[in-house]
Amino acid sequence: MTLEAIEAGLGGCFERLPEEAAGGRELYRGKVRDVVRGEENLLLVASDRISAFDRVIAAVPFKGEVLARISAWWFERCADLVPNHLLGGGSPRELGGTGRATLVRRLDMIPLEVVVRGYLSGSAWRDYEAGRPVSGIEFPRGLARNEKFPVPLVTPTTKEEGGHDRPVSRAEILERGIVSEELWEKIERAAVALFRRGQELAARSGLILADTKYEFGLAEGRVFLGDELHSPDSSRYWWADSYQARFFAGEDQRELDKEPFRRWLSERGFCGDGPVPEIPAKVLVETALRYIQAYEAITGESFEPIGGDAQSETAALARIVRERLR
Ligand SMILES: Nc1ncnc2c1ncn2[C@@H]1O[C@H](COP(=O)(O)OP(=O)(O)O)[C@@H](O)[C@H]1O
Ligand SMILES: [Mg+2]
Repeated sequence: MTLEAIEAGLGGCFERLPEEAAGGRELYRGKVRDVVRGEENLLLVASDRISAFDRVIAAVPFKGEVLARISAWWFERCADLVPNHLLGGGSPRELGGTGRATLVRRLDMIPLEVVVRGYLSGSAWRDYEAGRPVSGIEFPRGLARNEKFPVPLVTPTTKEEGGHDRPVSRAEILERGIVSEELWEKIERAAVALFRRGQELAARSGLILADTKYEFGLAEGRVFLGDELHSPDSSRYWWADSYQARFFAGEDQRELDKEPFRRWLSERGFCGDGPVPEIPAKVLVETALRYIQAYEAITGESFEPIGGDAQSETAALARIVRERLR
């Protein structure tokens, strides 16, 4: 996509699904996605909203479509490992008229964010540096920032109402009865298998999947993978070619995700509290470009939007709700 096309998209961001399009169904608004709930299914609508520090900050053109389609790409490629919530004909491409909708099986969600880490980075690094265990796991001393772990580690957090999730240990998960031991072990195995597949396919595209998070749920007594899969919003990707040199020099990794956007905010003193600063068009366009590049790097395909303007997409979404949502 050209820079001009992205700039032209600035005015037409899809900020939210209008209430009417839900056709009387229950509508849940998450930070980034609007979810229309049927009895058996859900329609996940990825908006163009961008969040940072658990706050919604702005709208980024094409972001919703990019994220919905990256997840769908991964769901297809990981379906043999763990059953997932994507329904037949429910991918953004198959639904048509909009690239941001995904039709999924409604799950009874397990209130955990199952974080898997291949590298010591982000909040895990901050905890480690401060001498705190990470989700109850004590790491050996002397590790460096962004160092690779010998094996991927599962460091779950609780999923709290209104954001600000909290690291939780395996012992606490079992004590509080969030899941049984048997179910937790199943989830851990599934998460590690997904992560290894993620790393393997990312590596073929010259990327490192440094960490990610999964959400699982139950249906018909079985565990399903829900939510999103290896999207840049739920994952940290680095470019592989510069990893070693930057690691040994103690420099930041080149990231594929919204870290530059977060950095722009924190350089202006915004860390989640107080009024959200006005984001200049230039920063929004650069952020959109990053998301599109992420799509292209991960899938190896050039990004051609399926969706149109917000009005035509709303009409398409209302039709999908009417005709497809059970
Ligand atoms: N298959 C599913 N069944 C039920 N709920 C789901 C499913 N997949 C995802 N969800 C939930 O839908 C919501 C997605 O919206 P999101 O913008 O991520 O919201 P949040 O701010 O709550 O994380 C999340 O609460 C997620 O747990
Ligand atoms: Mg979420």
